[in-house]
Amino acid sequence: MSEAERLARAAAHYRDLAPRYDRATRLIDDIRRKAMRALDPRPGETVIDAGCGTGWCLPYLLEAVGPSGRVIGFDPSGDMLSVARERDALRGANNLLLVQGAAHEVGLPRGADAVLFSYTHDLTQSAQSLRNVLGAARPGARVAATSTKLYARWLWPLNAYLRWSHREYITDFRHFDAPWTVLAGFLDDFRVDTGPFTQHYVARGRLKAGLAR
Ligand SMILES: C[S@@+](CC[C@H](N)C(=O)[O-])C[C@H]1O[C@@H](n2cnc3c(N)ncnc32)[C@H](O)[C@@H]1O
Repeated sequence: MSEAERLARAAAHYRDLAPRYDRATRLIDDIRRKAMRALDPRPGETVIDAGCGTGWCLPYLLEAVGPSGRVIGFDPSGDMLSVARERDALRGANNLLLVQGAAHEVGLPRGADAVLFSYTHDLTQSAQSLRNVLGAARPGARVAATSTKLYARWLWPLNAYLRWSHREYITDFRHFDAPWTVLAGFLDDFRVDTGPFTQHYVARGRLKAGLAR
């Protein structure tokens, strides 16, 4: 499937999902918080929320970077971004930049200190997308990613269920057993917290030198 076909499919899914997305995904709220703790955003920093969707993570990131920091969220889905723009907790945040665009081509300000990939499986399967997004961060920037992954192979009935239940959220099922595979190649000090009996992972590392443009 081409990038354009994948994006069109994702856009259709997220058009439907946008109004009910936050409620439908409330069971992963704690995992998203865990990923943000792994990212460890600090006062004064610039943080990118890649594939920010309805902006669930944005209030937490804004609070962590404080008024002297900046948060940049981007997403190709206008429907998801509309929900983010209406979010009460984001009203009046003048250090928040929301950009509509897909990861492989979005134009982002340079020099970010940290990049979050929260439930953005599709995006993290594309080296081209990762190169473009991570290219906007400084060498050594902290990166954290979280999403769903398959259980151990022998738990195949659960895995069949995961594939079915994620069909609206994921378009590219490559590396569904180890979704951090491509991202790991961009990072030093890479670490992933997960296990055979969980459907979650939280990965973290520091951006290798030589990527920033
Ligand atoms: C499951 S939602 C996650 C939203 C948010 N990060 C969260 O934690 O709730 C996945 C988001 O990734 C976005 N997405 C899909 N393909 C993308 C791409 N190629 N580049 C950037 N975002 C993409 C979708 O539009 C959607 O908003």
